[in-house]
Amino acid sequence: MTYGTFDMFHIGHLKLLNRAKTFGDRLIVAVSTDEFNLTKGKKTVIPFEDRCEIVKNIKSVDRVIAELSWDQKIQDIQNYEIETFVIGNDWTGKFDFLKKYCNVIYIPRTEGISSTDLKKKLK
Ligand code: CTP
Repeated sequence: MTYGTFDMFHIGHLKLLNRAKTFGDRLIVAVSTDEFNLTKGKKTVIPFEDRCEIVKNIKSVDRVIAELSWDQKIQDIQNYEIETFVIGNDWTGKFDFLKKYCNVIYIPRTEGISSTDLKKKLK
């Protein structure tokens, strides 16, 4: 399982999802809602429904759910019987508390691209 915003879907997102899939046989992606992003001070360009549709159509993705809050992860892991939680290494250490429930793997980020950079370039 992995979590993210996936705004202005880019190659870093694709590589993260493809790599995540190699750790298991099914990949569930929690895509953060526009409302949840606003609570983090993040304004998305692409609406939640469209971001979900894009992520759902990536070959390595088996299911998309909504990420509504910071504190749903333990329940998601239990509900979906998750064996491995995967996220980019910009989050290293931040989700170690999930190690009680499943494997936690931090994947190296793709250098030189992010949704924030893309937004800046378009300004
Ligand atoms: N990710 C990655 N490589 C990048 C950008 C993102 O591996 N160059 C990963 C993140 O580490 C995360 C997932 O993709 O596990 C979703 O990240 P998200 O925050 O949606 O993407 P960013 O491009 O980092 O967005 P922002 O600039 O808004 O933080």
